[in-house]
Amino acid sequence: MTYAVRAEGLRKRYGAVTALDGVDLEVSQGTVLGLLGPNGAGKTTTIRILSTLLRPDSGRASVGGFDVVRQADQVRRLIALTGQYAALDEHLTGAENLELFGKLLELGKREARRRAAGLLADFGLEEAADRPAKTYSGGMRRRLDLAAGLVGRPSVLFLDEPTTGLDPESRLALWQAVRRLVTEGMTVVLTTQYMEEADQLADDLVVVAGGAVAARGTAAALKAKVGDRTLVLRPERPGKLNELLVAAAQAAPAARTEGEERVVIPSADGALMNAVLDRVTEAGLTLDEAEFRRPSLDEVFLAVVGRTVGQAQQDTEATRRDTEPEVDAA
Ligand SMILES: Nc1ncnc2c1ncn2[C@@H]1O[C@H](COP(=O)(O)OP(=O)(O)OP(=O)(O)O)[C@@H](O)[C@H]1O
Ligand SMILES: [Mg+2]
Repeated sequence: MTYAVRAEGLRKRYGAVTALDGVDLEVSQGTVLGLLGPNGAGKTTTIRILSTLLRPDSGRASVGGFDVVRQADQVRRLIALTGQYAALDEHLTGAENLELFGKLLELGKREARRRAAGLLADFGLEEAADRPAKTYSGGMRRRLDLAAGLVGRPSVLFLDEPTTGLDPESRLALWQAVRRLVTEGMTVVLTTQYMEEADQLADDLVVVAGGAVAARGTAAALKAKVGDRTLVLRPERPGKLNELLVAAAQAAPAARTEGEERVVIPSADGALMNAVLDRVTEAGLTLDEAEFRRPSLDEVFLAVVGRTVGQAQQDTEATRRDTEPEVDAA
């Protein structure tokens, strides 16, 4: 079996920091691999090695069968990396930017134009084609950036947090664009902080934490691993949330609140639900809702990494604050 992308035992250190501590992954052609992990997990380092921008200290990786270190030129002809290669010129129009990429690839003027026009249409940028890129919104710029990467018809696309900071509409547009590329046979490796994005786009997931693979599998398989179902209860009156928690916890010690209006009970089955509902009724509480929920990818992440994505981010920010040098007020 040959994979479109393959990495074996990738290690990378930056001084005292071990960014990657033996990462293995495989991506079949025409599929999307989602790389998930908290800040500092090693996602970008992995992407940079796979896209030939960074050499691993040890281990090896290949794209389209070419070694990313020894055959970096061949690899570069096969790939696109958003946000890196595609250095857009702010003063050129969208169309001119794409045509310029075509010229750099020595496509010839007509072919460069043809590809630019096709991509502008594919990415919903036709109307903005003749406006300078500096007038583009964040979402349009991201799409133009992706389009620029596609001028060379890559077979493997690396996307490092492609939708961070985009509004929901722009995010959806980008997801659609990626899905269409995949149906055309493109292989995609993407990193994301959004569980929903991984759920929507990725065929397979690799969760990295501390530079190592903490879990891998399809979204469905990872969800199944984390466990069965979560029982979600919502009191009729939000003010009763704590009373509901106390009542539920008598039957299910793992009960906890989620947000301002729900009590959740992980790994619940029908018998546990009956026991919980008995306690809730005894306590004289009325429910607005009681339902089983399949684990979300966020819960998978929590189970695998021990923290939610949000907490992991906060932890990293706190560490950064702690280690920032004190400014002497003298
Ligand atoms: N150029 C560098 N010099 C020193 N340390 C680095 C460098 N690049 C990355 N690191 C460290 O390597 C580790 C992995 O970083 P990496 O950027 O791969 O993480 P990430 O998973 O992409 O995180 P994020 O979600 O914040 O983008 C981190 O501890 C980071 O601080
Ligand atoms: Mg990163």
